[in-house]
Amino acid sequence: MRKNILVFLVASILVVGCMAGRGHGHDHARGGGQGRAHGHEHGDGQGLKMHYYQSQCRSVSVEETVRGIVWKKVDADPTMAAKLLRLHYHDCFVRGCDGSILLDPTQNTTTEKTAGPNRSISGYEVIDEIKTKLEANCPGIVSCADITALAARDAVSFQFQREIWPVFTGRKDGIVSLASEVGGNLPSANANFTTLLTQFGTKGLNLNDLVTLSGAHTIGISHCALVSRRLYNFTGIGDADKSLDPVYAQTLRKLCPNPVNPTTVLEMDPKSSLSFDSDYYRALNQHKGLFVSDATLLTNSQSALVAKDLENPLVFFAQFARSMVKMGAVEVLTGGQGEVRKNCRVVNGQ
Ligand code: HEM
Ligand SMILES: *[C@@H]1O[C@H](CO)[C@@H](O)[C@H](O)[C@H]1NC(C)=O
Ligand SMILES: *[C@@H]1O[C@H](CO)[C@@H](O)[C@H](O)[C@H]1NC(C)=O
Ligand SMILES: *[C@@H]1O[C@H](CO)[C@@H](O)[C@H](O)[C@H]1NC(C)=O
Ligand SMILES: *[C@@H]1O[C@H](CO)[C@@H](O)[C@H](O)[C@H]1NC(C)=O
Repeated sequence: MRKNILVFLVASILVVGCMAGRGHGHDHARGGGQGRAHGHEHGDGQGLKMHYYQSQCRSVSVEETVRGIVWKKVDADPTMAAKLLRLHYHDCFVRGCDGSILLDPTQNTTTEKTAGPNRSISGYEVIDEIKTKLEANCPGIVSCADITALAARDAVSFQFQREIWPVFTGRKDGIVSLASEVGGNLPSANANFTTLLTQFGTKGLNLNDLVTLSGAHTIGISHCALVSRRLYNFTGIGDADKSLDPVYAQTLRKLCPNPVNPTTVLEMDPKSSLSFDSDYYRALNQHKGLFVSDATLLTNSQSALVAKDLENPLVFFAQFARSMVKMGAVEVLTGGQGEVRKNCRVVNGQ
């Protein structure tokens, strides 16, 4: 409870800070990470900086280039915002934010993007377009991992026409990407609270980050296959998941008739799947969270309190900014580690 109030205070201070026009997130990005996460406690841990490329690419503004292309793409196709946000999340959760999600499979390796949860992942061509433009103007300098982090922020920010979280840069690209590493690291839609907390914990992300980052599901779509078990046969005796609001379950059964068509999609936030807002928490708190992994956030008292606080959009935006800075620093490669890929899909020299 005390921690919850503290979170609220920190978030409120941050909101006031933003309103006063100061750089957001920057000095508030402190988290109680553990283990591997020590270096992330100040958000810019592991050597990431604000505007890392300012001194390195004189003829072009890296951040304006990314924003220009991303805003054009999201303007033309608003569903792209969710895709680019998810791309960055999947990158960070498997081998850190090192662009490993972008590598195409080779004759000898099945890379992360070929693993099961890749189904709705896309946006690769947007990253390629940005990379091509930056290579033309500032060759060999800007990493694919940084482009992915900036693109996620800019994609979500288009709706607001201003940056809604700070992105520290200076990540290098990894040279390893293995499909076999996806399963254990990326939480499943059916994961329970303990598993989610553990999986976030190994990334240095805590309970507040888990509840806050789950709010990303305020935008985007899912496939019926990932919820059908909750609708038709939750415990294997033909029943529905009792933690799901029965009226909403009926709505979902209409959208996802049995037997489920694997290509049918549905919005995760039925009210506004193109609007980044705190409606995810309103739905969640009414037992209309789509996945088991959403619903389970209400099964822990501390987590349920955080989900209640996050119904307030100002609290949500402030917290989301803070948690994205932390997620964006997970196991990043800096200093002499990694490389700057020439082509985001291929390791240099291959
Ligand atoms: C808490 C653990 C999480 C689980 C279990 C989870 C699970 C999922 C699943 C199953 C889908 C639908 C995929 C499909 O149908 O192909 C999805 C979509 C999505 N997820 Fe998550 N997710 C989690 C956390 C996150 C985080 C931390 C973010 C970003 C910060 C995120 C952003 C998204 C977005 C934006 C989409 C929609 C993608 C689109 O419309 O193309 N998720 N997630
Ligand atoms: C890929 O595997 C083949 C056959 O095992 C091997 O000859 C080749 O050198 C490998 N290529 C790389 C890049 O490792
Ligand atoms: C995504 O995963 C599925 C199932 O593992 C696989 O069949 C498919 O080829 C993958 N898609 C891409 C683009 O790698
Ligand atoms: C959560 O899921 C894990 C993995 O499936 C399982 O081992 C564990 O018993 C579950 N915990 C609870 C409290 O249900
Ligand atoms: C429900 O699940 C059980 C156990 O997984 C399975 O044996 C049964 O065939 C399923 N029934 C339906 C209608 O899908």
